[in-house]
Amino acid sequence: MCALVSASVAVDLEKGKEINGTCAACHSDNGQGGKKGEYPRIAGQQVKYLENQLKSFRARTRVNIPMFPYTQEREMSDADVKDIAAYLNGIELDTQMPTYTGKEDALTKLLMAEKVMIIPRAEGDLEAGGKIYQKQCASCHAKSGRGRGMFPMLVGQYTNYLKRQVDLYRAGDRAHDEEAVGGVLNTLDEKQIQDVLAYLTSIQDPKE
Ligand code: HEC
Ligand code: HEC
Repeated sequence: MCALVSASVAVDLEKGKEINGTCAACHSDNGQGGKKGEYPRIAGQQVKYLENQLKSFRARTRVNIPMFPYTQEREMSDADVKDIAAYLNGIELDTQMPTYTGKEDALTKLLMAEKVMIIPRAEGDLEAGGKIYQKQCASCHAKSGRGRGMFPMLVGQYTNYLKRQVDLYRAGDRAHDEEAVGGVLNTLDEKQIQDVLAYLTSIQDPKE
């Protein structure tokens, strides 16, 4: 919740919630995404990163045909971008099934269970993937994989969505970081990428 407060210069979370109504059709009410990663998770993502992506969808520097109409200037102003980014960042999804006390009613139980998002473990060499990740990715995406600022959170995201983005970067269809298009991702082979993705699924639960 403190991320919300620090980013909250004139952020209107009620407005963010209202905008989320149009996003929910694809990304689901709590921002979990869906269709096994065709629609990525957007809940809990870094504010700055969310803002940057929405602006680049709007400007078509990142091509996203399904979303383009929702990000057109008239439909999504810069103020809206701030509100929806702050709202989504504040949605906390759990990485473990809740332990019920027995006192919850059915609706409360349902709401608790709906906020759980566990990415299935991906196949791969966790040790090798961990070494690559900590050496070559953590400086930007953080040791925990939770990102910071403009660097997106990678843990808790659908593996096939991440793989699709890696492929786009490697093909030069999306810019990974400003200094080098594709950059570090082009230095890794398929097996190494798979190992990193497997590693990310193994560190999603901060309590483990
Ligand atoms: C018609 C379906 C659809 C709707 C509605 C939609 N999105 Fe998306 N969104 C997508 C798809 C598909 C992608 C993944 C594109 C890709 O694979 O590059 C995406 C990607 C994103 C991403 C990038 C995530 C990342 O990790 O890089 C963000 C952020 C996002 N959407 C936010 C929103 C917001 C906010 C709204 C509501 C204003 C919204 N979307 C409405 C389909 C949709
Ligand atoms: C120099 C900083 C830097 C390093 C190192 C780095 N990244 Fe990134 N990464 C970024 C930035 C910046 C973005 C967001 C780019 C944008 O705005 O589209 C990103 C985005 C991504 C995304 C897309 C996430 C999404 O939600 O769409 C993936 C996947 C990714 N990086 C994987 C990796 C992996 C794997 C490594 C290590 C092999 C790595 N990155 C190393 C800066 C970095």
